[in-house]
Amino acid sequence: MEPKNRPSYREIIESDGGAISNTLALTANPPQSTDDIPFTHYISDDYFAREMDEMWPKVWQVACREEHVPVVGDYFVYDIGQYSIVITRTAEDELKGYYNSCLHRGTKLKPSGSAGWSPNIQCPFHGWTWNLTGELNEVPCSWEFKHLDYEASCLPEVQVDTWSGFVFINMDPGCGPLLDYLEVLPNHFAHWGFENWYVAVHTRKELNCNWKIAMEGFMEAYHTPVVHPEMCQVVGDWNMQHDIFGDHVSRDLCPLGVSSPSLDEPLSEQELLNRSRPGNPTTSSTADATLPEGDTARMIMAADTRKRFRDDYGIDLSTHTDAEVIDSLKYNVFPNLMFSGGAAIHNLSIFSPMGNDTGRCTIDRMIFLPVPKDGPRPTPAQVVTVPEHESWSQDTAIGEFSAKVLDQDTSIMRMQYEGMQASCKGAQTLSSYQESRVRWLHETLEKYVRP
Ligand code: FES
Ligand SMILES: [Fe+2]
Repeated sequence: MEPKNRPSYREIIESDGGAISNTLALTANPPQSTDDIPFTHYISDDYFAREMDEMWPKVWQVACREEHVPVVGDYFVYDIGQYSIVITRTAEDELKGYYNSCLHRGTKLKPSGSAGWSPNIQCPFHGWTWNLTGELNEVPCSWEFKHLDYEASCLPEVQVDTWSGFVFINMDPGCGPLLDYLEVLPNHFAHWGFENWYVAVHTRKELNCNWKIAMEGFMEAYHTPVVHPEMCQVVGDWNMQHDIFGDHVSRDLCPLGVSSPSLDEPLSEQELLNRSRPGNPTTSSTADATLPEGDTARMIMAADTRKRFRDDYGIDLSTHTDAEVIDSLKYNVFPNLMFSGGAAIHNLSIFSPMGNDTGRCTIDRMIFLPVPKDGPRPTPAQVVTVPEHESWSQDTAIGEFSAKVLDQDTSIMRMQYEGMQASCKGAQTLSSYQESRVRWLHETLEKYVRP
């Protein structure tokens, strides 16, 4: 039976009063097929190999932040599957990306996972050396290489571009511009940009499942009442709005400070406020502030956040609507990125295969904070790696509540991967709306990996 109380996201933000942001007023959820999606997309080594050959080398993907390579000579190694790219700052306003493989006998020029500074790029095996802009200018025992065409031995490059402080790469020499690939994203983030924010927390969670299982676990809230029952007190999970703007960008808009439609009785505004305040347990009804007559929990939550930003960072959020200040607005960019939109929350999660393994992946979750007004820009946080069976709380910077919710999400992922392998049915049957973005991911994937 359909729940009685299931207002749409639009109805919730209308009841906030005041203007609705043009960006949040949009809806886009085109009709999709309802066919089952085969589990081979997740568990087949052959399908994974085809993703590696036909999809990953053709898509724009985030390699690092500009602040990872601020000085000429700085480098950062980005790996995806077997591919490895060295991002190098070659001039104050120029970045290049080179295939991380020596043109002599193939050795990686920089170790995977490394970053640092060097005046040139020297192979650690026999010492062939390229300058920062990729020209070969030193070959030991050069008299033995009279047959070598130096001009043709520049380091092969990938496409590099930036948006909002993120460094993107694309291995396809014929790819279109990054800004076209990002569809509505630059426009929607015009007032929510990441330029003046820095990576304050960077957690890498290792998981035993296919990378798409990890990503899809954060693309619907259908699972909330079962996986995160306590969240139903403060999140409109089944009210979430799902939008699909094109092949590369989709989003969900999730209202906070409202009760889940799955509850038999919605909470009062006072209870919602008590349970939504930072530090309060979501299941406690301890009153610590009395809601003024006529106010809603969402109004007070927005006022709290605006005050915090003013006091802590000197940032004025008064031009943003309450929804932009408090709600969870998640934008997915195909294939593996999830940006938090809005004025206050700035996160990025990257879901990547781990090495060349169909059944292992990592989630790189970065929390951004505003760059202090009186500078300088802080250096990006070091990565804290959390092995599969350990809790996200190993990275103490995450916060207890977020770590618990993330543990609930990721603890189900190995079970889903193993269940797919154990399946007799061999395919998934998705809901038509709440899981429409899971289907979107596969529909776009199939445009690269042809069935
Ligand atoms: S493999 Fe790089 S110099 Fe020999
Ligand atoms: Fe979840």
